[in-house]
Amino acid sequence: MSIKNICCIGAGYVGGPTMTMIAAKCPDIIVNVVDINKNRIAAWNDKNVDKLPIYEPGLSDLVAKTRNKNLFFSTEVEQAIQAADMIFISVNTPTKTYGVGKGMAADLKYIELCARQIAAVATTDKIIVEKSTLPVRTAEALKRILDNTGNGVNFEILSNPEFLAEGTAVSDLLNPDRVLIGGEETESGRLAQQALVDVYANWVPKERILTTNVWSSELSKLTANAFLAQRVSSINSLSELCEVTEADVGEVAKAIGSDSRIGPKFLKASVGFGGSCFQKDILNLVYIAQSYGLKEVADYWEQVIIMNDHQKRRFAKKIVETLFNTVSGKKIAVLGWAFKKDTNDTRESAAIYVVDYLLNEQAEVVVYDPKVNAEQIYADLDYLNTRSGEDNRKLLNVVNDHQLAFEDSHAAAILTEWDEFKSFDWNTLYEKMLKPAFLFDGRMILDHEELERIGFEMYTIGRG
Ligand code: UDX
Ligand code: ADP
Repeated sequence: MSIKNICCIGAGYVGGPTMTMIAAKCPDIIVNVVDINKNRIAAWNDKNVDKLPIYEPGLSDLVAKTRNKNLFFSTEVEQAIQAADMIFISVNTPTKTYGVGKGMAADLKYIELCARQIAAVATTDKIIVEKSTLPVRTAEALKRILDNTGNGVNFEILSNPEFLAEGTAVSDLLNPDRVLIGGEETESGRLAQQALVDVYANWVPKERILTTNVWSSELSKLTANAFLAQRVSSINSLSELCEVTEADVGEVAKAIGSDSRIGPKFLKASVGFGGSCFQKDILNLVYIAQSYGLKEVADYWEQVIIMNDHQKRRFAKKIVETLFNTVSGKKIAVLGWAFKKDTNDTRESAAIYVVDYLLNEQAEVVVYDPKVNAEQIYADLDYLNTRSGEDNRKLLNVVNDHQLAFEDSHAAAILTEWDEFKSFDWNTLYEKMLKPAFLFDGRMILDHEELERIGFEMYTIGRG
């Protein structure tokens, strides 16, 4: 079966870039990306491609080349479902905030809504592709909803988890380490799997397209993220040990990363990992293990989250302790709000938690981030519900010019590793600050010897 028309439900960080790449590489396939969020769709359709709702290096060029040729963004969900041979589900699956599994399990209500909508609208056979990260066995739930429509339409369900990392989405999609496609082990399941393999084979070498059963595919996505997050928590745990001894965590990371069995990636100590996936997926894994009564397995993975929370809190605490145990009324410049560089995504960003801690200590925080706007920053803080929205706006300011953040500040903290911070004129910034001028590098991106020569009192993660 050759796919001619694809619909993707959900025009977010996963659906948007992935469908843009498919459209760019498969000019014969019509790709309709639909979303219930009108503003998001309007932004995807904005004539000025710099106004796309998500920022990813290289994405706007690709959208400009394909949009309204074979790539379309719209809110016409039903029409797109009807026309499609293959439907990708890329809606959000946040951690549940209520009821059973609160704070741990994935909230599948958006997925279920999609399934019900597909079931209600479809009049021809469809291949349904789970793109969002989902707990193991979601495909089964999807299938039960879809198969009970009684309208004679046949649905095949595939799991095709996305491994792209934000900030490098375009190059990850262009040149993936692997594409994983899980399908049912039936004749029709294998045909559906092959149809999706053929789509990717337009640009991905065949040996990098792995096919598995549905459950293996779903579990692989959760555990890939758990393993990556575990590496960050492992090195972060050592950063604390390094700070109280004579070791330097950067040197340790280099030494262990040179072992080809360990490898150099994901060993950068930091203020803590963020992003929409790591925490959510581990919590999910923990929840699944618990629900099967596997206490030791659950506890093992939960420790990765515990360590990450500790690292964020430890960093914030360090700021307060260093500033003579009080930051009340002190101005602190915060550089970076996104959860990593080259994205405007702030979900679970360490900055949110560090700043919340500082605001609890009555600090006056001024934030500068090159891609995140004030509205988002306030929304992130308001969502925590620690204090009123009014108080958040009283205590925290957002500036578009980083220099303003430094005027008469007591300290500055780097919370995202944006490249532009490295080329700041640190001599001038030092002059603007009150003395002693404290600089907390939560991402270890600056030349600390150089900054100490300027006069900064430096705090580096993982160095005593
Ligand atoms: C992750 C996975 O990498 C990706 O495969 C999956 O599809 C989605 O989840 P993402 O969350 O976009 O991607 O970013 P990633 O590069 O993995 O970084 C996650 C967090 O870990 C960031 O906050 C980053 O700053 C932090 N990190 C990463 C470190 O602190 N140290 C490191 O060495 C690496
Ligand atoms: P991700 O990082 O997984 O891509 P996002 O939150 O960026 O997550 O994107 C998910 C998108 O899915 C949102 O834009 C949301 O509006 C959309 N969405 C959620 N439920 C539905 C639905 N039933 N129909 C269409 N779009 C939906």
